[in-house]
Amino acid sequence: MSKEHASAFMINEIHEQPGLLSEIIDHNMGSTLTQLQLLKSELSTERLNSFENVLILGMGTSLHAGMVAKLWFERIAKVKSESDNSSEFKDRNPIINKNTLAISISQSGETADTLSAIKTAKEMGATVLNISNSENSTSNKLADYNLPINAGEERSIAATKSFTCSLLQLYILAIKMGNARKSLNQEESNKMVDELKDLPRLIDEVLKIESQIEQLAEQYYAYKNFLYLGRNLNYPIALEGALKLKEVSYIHAEGYPSGELKHGPLALIDSQMATTVIMPKDSMFVKNLNIVKEIKSKGGKVISITSNQTEAGSNKDDDTIYIPDTSELISPVLTCIPLQLFSYFTAIKLGRNVDKPRNLSKSVTVE
Ligand code: AGP
Repeated sequence: MSKEHASAFMINEIHEQPGLLSEIIDHNMGSTLTQLQLLKSELSTERLNSFENVLILGMGTSLHAGMVAKLWFERIAKVKSESDNSSEFKDRNPIINKNTLAISISQSGETADTLSAIKTAKEMGATVLNISNSENSTSNKLADYNLPINAGEERSIAATKSFTCSLLQLYILAIKMGNARKSLNQEESNKMVDELKDLPRLIDEVLKIESQIEQLAEQYYAYKNFLYLGRNLNYPIALEGALKLKEVSYIHAEGYPSGELKHGPLALIDSQMATTVIMPKDSMFVKNLNIVKEIKSKGGKVISITSNQTEAGSNKDDDTIYIPDTSELISPVLTCIPLQLFSYFTAIKLGRNVDKPRNLSKSVTVE
């Protein structure tokens, strides 16, 4: 890696992820998931079991973590869940009450829209659990319960490590809630914990292929438009991949659920449009493969991110990034890594100020 690369906070923060995730996992394994690393006060099993619905709030990358978590809470804890953009939430006359657990996510803990959403949720009687990377943040002070992200200081404006650490804390919270609500049996819970333990090693595997991703950036940096497609748990990752690329490289990029392609975005496909399809070997692989075929039939260029090493997975004329196979539930924590690297290398190739993109600040303190 060149000196220029090594000096960027963003690449160092991407590389810190396996170590940070290991620390979070080790801490939670020590208490066999019975205790969360909550600050302020403990959220008891009885209390966790008492909520009728979960509402997750955040902006930008924090919202994308919340969108993944919404699906985890539904699938793992079998609790009615929704996620919303903090700034939209306040203005939509939300239907929440004292039986709602509102989870606010904010790396900085100072995002004005999220602070305002916390206040609204509290006024409406909800219990607020705030997930933040700064212990003394305003959001922590406003909320009833605090769960630290534990990513260490993040200096690059583009969030990377705080995203995966937030995801991990949310996943552990979903397991904890699943245990409390008895929607998970011991065997299922143990299996999920075992899979988690392997996650840092799998992320390391992806980091080992960064030179391949750098080459792809070399190939694609001149494209002016990108689509990012993913389904279900990987739809928020498509949004996050597109956000990361536009933030640091200034290339126009949009994320969509794969199924939405034919409902409009397909008209954009031609040889000048690059599409990244997130298609791990999961229950949606075949549907995603059909989307890839559709894009190619219209002359579009495809980068696929897949864990499917079979012939079906290797779309010969495409550019494929192979990632290790993992459970469908935790795949978003892995599929986001090549997208972070791709954005970083593309921005470097374009000579952007990666850690401090134009017009952006680390914490948006005005609504
Ligand atoms: C992430 O790369 C962005 N810089 C931005 O979207 C950020 O996630 C958003 O502003 C929310 O910040 P917060 O997590 O500090 O509340």
